[in-house]
Amino acid sequence: MRTPWLALLALALLPSWAAPARAEHFPPLTAAGGMVAADSEIASTAGAQVLAEGGDAVDAAVTVALVLGVVQPFASGIGGGGFAVVHRANGEAFALDFREQAPAGASADMYLDAQGDVIANASRRGPRAAGVPGELAGLWALHAAHGTLPWRRVVAPALALARDGFPMHPLLYRRVSKGAKALAASVVLARTFLDAAGAPRPPGSVIRRPDLARTLSAVAEQGASALYTGPIGAALAAAMQADGGLITAADLKAYALKRRPLVRAVWRGYEVLAMPPPSSGGAVILQVLKVLAPTDLAALGHNSSAYLHVLTESLKHAFADRARVMGDPDFTPVPLDALLSDDAVARVRGAFDPKRTRPHGDYGQPFTLPDDSGTTHLSVVDRQGNAVALTSTVNTSFGSHYVAGDTGILLNNEMDDFVAKPGVPNAFGLVGRAANAIAPGKRPLSSMSPTIVLKDGAPVLVVGASGGPTIITGTLQVLLNVLVFGMDVRAAVEAPRIHHQWTPDVLLMDRGIPADVHTALTARGHALKTWDRFTAVQAISRTADGTLAGASDPTKLGQPAGVR
Ligand code: GLY
Repeated sequence: MRTPWLALLALALLPSWAAPARAEHFPPLTAAGGMVAADSEIASTAGAQVLAEGGDAVDAAVTVALVLGVVQPFASGIGGGGFAVVHRANGEAFALDFREQAPAGASADMYLDAQGDVIANASRRGPRAAGVPGELAGLWALHAAHGTLPWRRVVAPALALARDGFPMHPLLYRRVSKGAKALAASVVLARTFLDAAGAPRPPGSVIRRPDLARTLSAVAEQGASALYTGPIGAALAAAMQADGGLITAADLKAYALKRRPLVRAVWRGYEVLAMPPPSSGGAVILQVLKVLAPTDLAALGHNSSAYLHVLTESLKHAFADRARVMGDPDFTPVPLDALLSDDAVARVRGAFDPKRTRPHGDYGQPFTLPDDSGTTHLSVVDRQGNAVALTSTVNTSFGSHYVAGDTGILLNNEMDDFVAKPGVPNAFGLVGRAANAIAPGKRPLSSMSPTIVLKDGAPVLVVGASGGPTIITGTLQVLLNVLVFGMDVRAAVEAPRIHHQWTPDVLLMDRGIPADVHTALTARGHALKTWDRFTAVQAISRTADGTLAGASDPTKLGQPAGVR
């Protein structure tokens, strides 16, 4: 039986959500009383219901994150971790790091064989691929500090969905179909998502997660301590020990949240609040914005070859810095001030040749980005002007594929975001150096880029994405589309984008960018590759009259939900 909150949803929500008839010019969903944009319509709707009941943006964000972990387990969950950038209506702003961290038993060479070569998949599958999860600690702390509704209330939708079931969404079906062979190796995942013959359960069939429901029930009663010092954690640690994993009860107990100073910059009259290391997202986004600041981008034209060339050149420089010097700032000094200094920015700008991209040396290597990012982003703005940008991850699709015992908790494979060996690319083709080597208690470098843009102290854009390193480029381009090219948020999210991460030396082009732009970029020396993007941006903008507009990237079939 469904709980009443599900039945009540449609009453509180805008007709445009209930019947998303799309006008010819595809306007974004608008509302005055609050907005949620997430990768899943069920999650956005559950968050909007929390806002409609008087909850604030933090309450809604916690609900949405927990629901996403139930209905889209390939992308996030309490077995993962994430980052949040929060702006409160009273002007307070902060970044919360609840990323996974390496267990005490981890070591720099733990994924290398006797010859010093990386063991295929060792950092990607099974219990040893998992970092100590931080998601629940982060959501609990956010709610404790800034939530207004009871904890039980914000957990209730996720608990009800895990217990009573939810329909197999076409996106979940796609992910299950793509990974059916790997899922079949896990008894719990196979039982949940596959039928007796090992085929994916069909779209629309009801998926239940009873083990996770029991865990969420304990979490609803005991809070995060159920996992970090309580019975759920004990069960997780026992399963890890039995199955050869590293996470112990002591690791869970030692897990600590990090409230970090934002990276922030004033840019063309806006204030950009972005995520600091161990995210690379804020540093890359701000460096590119600063490099491009004096250029009249609007005059170059949206997605013109001249615009995409300068954007790509800026990205190549910023991603090169990412690979060289970024990591967990608690273990390795990250020279943020130097990277973002006027001198550094001027040096990058001075190196531009408008007619040619620069040689990449020996770093380029053939690659295909995997269509399996296990990350999700949600943006929330409430009536009072509180805003949350929260990105959460289990790393690649379905994380480690390891469910700990009967806890229902699917563990991340965030250890693959470390550098297993210098120069050897991870699942996203990213390379790095010692700054991002594995060490006990260290957090792997991330691309997650929750971002809030303020104008006159109030949020005008809340944005972020899923999709590995394409999170950074997707978030950045949507920001530019809104702030520079004046697009409404839906057009900004749906417009074709590019991606370049320096290594490999390939410029990925969304479909829809005209052939003459391809020709002109190729003539400048860029190696182009058309791809089917998997980045999913979730964005909310706010106009001068206070109207909120929400958009979910069509890539993951999400939908925003608004409140009157
Ligand atoms: N796991 C994806 C990221 O943190 O960048």
